[in-house]
Amino acid sequence: MFLKSYIKRFSSQINNQLKQTQLTKINYNDLLKSPQEINISNFIESSVGLKGQGMLIIKNLPNLEKIRKTQFKNLYNVNNLPKEEQNKLKTKDASVGWTNQVYASVDGVIPNETNSFMARYPSDINKVDLKSPEFDIIWPPNNFKQDFLEFNNEVRILFNNLIKHIDHYLSKNIKNYKNELYNDFYNTYNHLYRGIIYSPMKKSHNFWDIWHTDVSLMTFVTHPIYYNKNFDVVNINKSCLLFKDRSDNVFEAVYEEDEVAINIGDIFYFYSAGLIPTSPHCVTKSVDIPNDIYRSNIVIFLEPLHQHKLKISGGLEFDEIPHKESLKYFYSGNLNFKNGMTFQEYNDVFLATSSK
Ligand SMILES: [Fe+2]
Repeated sequence: MFLKSYIKRFSSQINNQLKQTQLTKINYNDLLKSPQEINISNFIESSVGLKGQGMLIIKNLPNLEKIRKTQFKNLYNVNNLPKEEQNKLKTKDASVGWTNQVYASVDGVIPNETNSFMARYPSDINKVDLKSPEFDIIWPPNNFKQDFLEFNNEVRILFNNLIKHIDHYLSKNIKNYKNELYNDFYNTYNHLYRGIIYSPMKKSHNFWDIWHTDVSLMTFVTHPIYYNKNFDVVNINKSCLLFKDRSDNVFEAVYEEDEVAINIGDIFYFYSAGLIPTSPHCVTKSVDIPNDIYRSNIVIFLEPLHQHKLKISGGLEFDEIPHKESLKYFYSGNLNFKNGMTFQEYNDVFLATSSK
């Protein structure tokens, strides 16, 4: 129901002509410097800001090659477990654990199946109840949990430093803004891991994942790996990830295997008082890619703690956020946002309104 409404809403937009865009790339080592040592506000503006491309690319991440190999290997191992072993990884909370999704579509043809393993982990284990359903998962065998935690630590460093630079950018552009992201989120958030394997697509379809926005602060997205039915890796140097820039142009996220894309999530819109719009995106197969290809990808969503109260930066009310020309396209649940609601409440409203 939820996904069906998305398809109805967005599927025609794939017809927009793809634009060629040189993406803004930020060097990881620059992120590690403080905003006082290096000013990268112009990169933030040109990537995710009001006139930006809707996403940014981080290059030169240390250990990325090793992490990526390990994470994909672990994901394939889970995907290859016998069904009964996979079923043991299912949980009561549908947002974590093992899932096998079959999306309905408007024409009644099932486009493909998606297998995912999802796990949520807090930046501070003392701030949450690890027994609550959103954290209570059964970890896959072998070294999965340990590898996951090491991966998390690397991503945490990236997110924490990126937040400092985004804060610096917002401080220059929003009246009364004082490092609010840093104060709100530094070491107090969840990472929501999702390892995804999209199965080959039916001939009549070209979406692995339809147009949508993420309900998060931002999302770390690895370059995908493609393989065939024999589990042979197929070398396709394409992300198949399409984005919309702030002028409603559609472009493919072109980035290399040793780089990651950062997608700005839905709630950034009000956290930045409208200066950082959300980033509509989809995953689609171009005609030159064979139909019998699997696409695997690993993402980590940065989300507030579920009981964290969301607010608009700069002390604005929601309707005071300027209605910029570039924000005329779809912004998911934002219109239902109320200052002071918790992230859990916001998420519930988002899901409820998306299914209508
Ligand atoms: Fe997404």
